[in-house]
Amino acid sequence: MLVKIITKRDKNVKILQFDIFLRLKKKLAYNTPIIFRSRYMAKKRTLFECQACGFQSPRWMGKCTSCNEWESMIELSTEQIKFLKETSSNSSASILSKAKPITQIEEDNITRFTSGSTELDLVLGGGIVPGSLRLIGGSPGVGKSTLLLKIAGNLARASKKVLYVSGEESAGQIKLRANRLDANHDNLYLLPEINLSTVIAEINNQNYELIVIDSIQTLYSEETPSAPGSVTQVRTITFDLMRIAKSLHIPIFIIGHITKDGSIAGPRVLEHMVDTVLYFEGDTNSDLRLLRGFKNRFGATNEVGIFEMNKEGLNDAKSMAGKFFNKEKLQSGSALTVIMEGSRPIIIEVQALVSESYGHAKRSSTGFDNNRLGMLLALLENKLDLPLGTYDVFINVSGGIKINDPSADLAIIAAILSSYRNRELSSESLFLGEVSLTGEIREVSGLTQRLKEIETQGFIKAVIPNKPIEKTNIKCFIADEVSKVVEWM
Ligand SMILES: Nc1ncnc2c1ncn2[C@@H]1O[C@H](COP(=O)(O)OP(=O)(O)OP(=O)(O)O)[C@@H](O)[C@H]1O
Ligand SMILES: [Mg+2]
Repeated sequence: MLVKIITKRDKNVKILQFDIFLRLKKKLAYNTPIIFRSRYMAKKRTLFECQACGFQSPRWMGKCTSCNEWESMIELSTEQIKFLKETSSNSSASILSKAKPITQIEEDNITRFTSGSTELDLVLGGGIVPGSLRLIGGSPGVGKSTLLLKIAGNLARASKKVLYVSGEESAGQIKLRANRLDANHDNLYLLPEINLSTVIAEINNQNYELIVIDSIQTLYSEETPSAPGSVTQVRTITFDLMRIAKSLHIPIFIIGHITKDGSIAGPRVLEHMVDTVLYFEGDTNSDLRLLRGFKNRFGATNEVGIFEMNKEGLNDAKSMAGKFFNKEKLQSGSALTVIMEGSRPIIIEVQALVSESYGHAKRSSTGFDNNRLGMLLALLENKLDLPLGTYDVFINVSGGIKINDPSADLAIIAAILSSYRNRELSSESLFLGEVSLTGEIREVSGLTQRLKEIETQGFIKAVIPNKPIEKTNIKCFIADEVSKVVEWM
């Protein structure tokens, strides 16, 4: 009997061998010579993909190492792996072309046309660019379909042929909304469809000038053997839509669902593929919605569009000043500040609740970074000897705004102190300043513009980190470190 011994070190080979040996054992005569020929056997390729972020790994993992999601890895079938290979080789083949010196290259002539909404144009960087692929994400019911149907109606009225593809609602349902938004026009075409090839055929047969896809997660490509909304489907469909947008020079808006942590559901690569990523923010209990740029290949990302939801749809907010605070209703624990949203100053109210803790002290914030809150609390304990370790601290920013501007630090501190002492702050003053780890209050950008807004809104006092360059009617109190704020209060 001829037997080849397999070393124990190579566990895979041993298992595979043993498996085959067991299967053949019954069919073989007792004294048949057996030869294990491991090196000639093809190993089955396995690939696992995270359904939350699209990360791929040859091994299964309980927790995705890329996005930290639990139990999100699923095994891809042989057809899916084959398809992935094909699409990646196609994409690399299509970009193979001869390199040219940059001096010989003619620049693209970017033209823009208005969407009919000043706020949307502002976030887009000046208007819609033909051939651009824009992704709009937001939580359920925030107003994604409402805004894009309104834009579609605006453009149809401006003699552009628009296609609105919906995989979520019937044509009749969309018509109802169109009636409410006054978006009825002969140039606006509805296609309730989930099959991508039908959508592509429709686009190729007509000369549309704008396309809206509502939503990317409901479209389905027959070429990919996986369920609608899966990472592979979303990636393939976006890739196809990108090719259409670029080759036919049609701007495409894609609506995307978001995951529980607030990012677009689907692979991270989706955000890389599209030209613009915009997110809706806002509390569904309030009428205000903010559209914030996360990525923009045709403009800056620091601008924010502000909209108001009413029965006529999501319209540009006429005057957002005064919408995020109520001077008359300020109580202990509330402080006002002015943040810059892109090029615009907005006065907002921050609220703090400090209450005695029974057990582990809780820290929680809505609209403000939790880590930053931890830092500010540690600073208050360290510099002002406040025993905050035995208190629960909650922070809320009114109007559903998410603060990204560090100049709100001082107002957060003022609100915490006000709640801790149960003493109201003056409703005539605002707090402005970024607080450093050493307790120093740093200068803020655009101070003149912020002070002008404070004055326009009828305030008379402000606590600020440095002397303003331009003359102002606001009575300014200069606080260059945290302890000075306490003196002022
Ligand atoms: N008749 C109405 N009057 C006023 N507001 C309305 C009316 N009907 C709907 N709305 C508002 O429109 C919102 C729904 O908007 P829309 O359907 O555009 O959201 P969406 O972001 O597309 O949601 P989804 O993710 O579920 O598709 C509702 O939450 C509500 O605030
Ligand atoms: Mg919708």
